[in-house]
Amino acid sequence: MIKMNCKFINYLFVILVICSIVNCQQCSTDIPLLAIGATCKADQTNICKLGYCNSTTLKCVAQKAKDSACTANNECLTGGCVSSKCGYIGYAFLGDDCVDDSSCVNPTKMECTSNICAFKSGQSCAVATDCANNQYCKVTGATGECLASSDVNGACQSRYDCKENLVCSYSDNTNTTLSCQLPYTKQAGDKCNSEDDPSRIPFFYDCDISKGLMCSNSKCVANSVSQQCSLCMTATDCKGYGESCMCNTNSSEVVELGKAGFCSQGVYITSACKTTFTELMTCAVDNNCPMNQRSLFTQGGCLQTNCNTEACKMSSCFNVADSTSKGFINMVLSACTNYKYTDIQSECSVPITVTPSPLPSSSSSLLPALTLWFICIILAILKI
Ligand SMILES: *[C@@H]1O[C@H](CO)[C@@H](O)[C@H](O)[C@H]1NC(C)=O
Ligand SMILES: *[C@@H]1O[C@H](CO)[C@@H](O)[C@H](O)[C@H]1NC(C)=O
Ligand SMILES: *[C@@H]1O[C@H](CO)[C@@H](O)[C@H](O)[C@H]1NC(C)=O
Repeated sequence: MIKMNCKFINYLFVILVICSIVNCQQCSTDIPLLAIGATCKADQTNICKLGYCNSTTLKCVAQKAKDSACTANNECLTGGCVSSKCGYIGYAFLGDDCVDDSSCVNPTKMECTSNICAFKSGQSCAVATDCANNQYCKVTGATGECLASSDVNGACQSRYDCKENLVCSYSDNTNTTLSCQLPYTKQAGDKCNSEDDPSRIPFFYDCDISKGLMCSNSKCVANSVSQQCSLCMTATDCKGYGESCMCNTNSSEVVELGKAGFCSQGVYITSACKTTFTELMTCAVDNNCPMNQRSLFTQGGCLQTNCNTEACKMSSCFNVADSTSKGFINMVLSACTNYKYTDIQSECSVPITVTPSPLPSSSSSLLPALTLWFICIILAILKI
């Protein structure tokens, strides 16, 4: 028993020393989702599930329905507090109908003039989402211009230069010039565009996702997904498309497992998602709705108004994490009541078989590990 523990402690010690040298904190920490009534921090380092943190009581309070009295956006299930009542914000693109400036997708640049979102004087677009549907932003010097996006075979540099149901890729394997093409047409070994897409839908791709293909180094290759709950130290341990290493916040488990976290799939490259996304895209095109991750779940917006069923099916195609965009998870959960939220921590927790000592929370507190290691060395010398 002592022998087994020592072997493990030695292993841990090596990890800790390496970590203190190269700084191993490379797993991602998701913001904890707290239940209504739970104790919370007002600084948004945690999020109340379908709720907000009352800054006086420091307790999670349920978000309120449309037209309820409010003082801040995060108090409302609708996503916004408009003229002291819960209502919709950030849903209207350039040229769309609006109620006030907060209706517009980019209120720093846009204003609601005669109930239409328009650029404020001296303002112009910087990114495609500042423009109307099927427009891109051409930036010249300090100003941008919203221009019509290209159709199939039209020139592009990024997919935003193409109509919303097209991707920016190559017409065939020998062509070296990018052009607008239909999605999911490229097969294994075909040339593809590995362009990263931070804003539009991540698996909207030229490679055929129904065959499990992803684009890597400009070639469509099989997406090798990490086994569910496999252990990792850093994101590079997780090989599949859009995977990250999510920190295990239970330090007892970390000590037991000897790894910092679990591989978590952010995006599912499957046949079902091709179908789901194709249906959503058809609805978006039919209703002339602009498509990006945020517009998918913005209440009062074109997609949520016309394509709620299709948009909300997307829970089986990507995981919404909240580590970067605080409050995005609540936006999704309130727009889609059936949304399936994956809590990697509870799904991947493991029963502990031995009782280990807690892992030092940072590399600066190596002392307990060092002491244990010393004891182990002495035990080894004494051959106990
Ligand atoms: C927070 O709680 C206090 C005390 O119950 C209450 O008076 C106040 O209105 C609450 N604030 C919000 C924003 O809910
Ligand atoms: C590359 O594709 C574009 C768009 O389809 C086409 O206009 C162009 O002629 C192609 N170039 C070559 C060398 O095939
Ligand atoms: C950590 O995990 C162990 C075993 O899975 C469990 O018994 C314990 O309650 C967990 N601790 C916390 C704080 O969740």
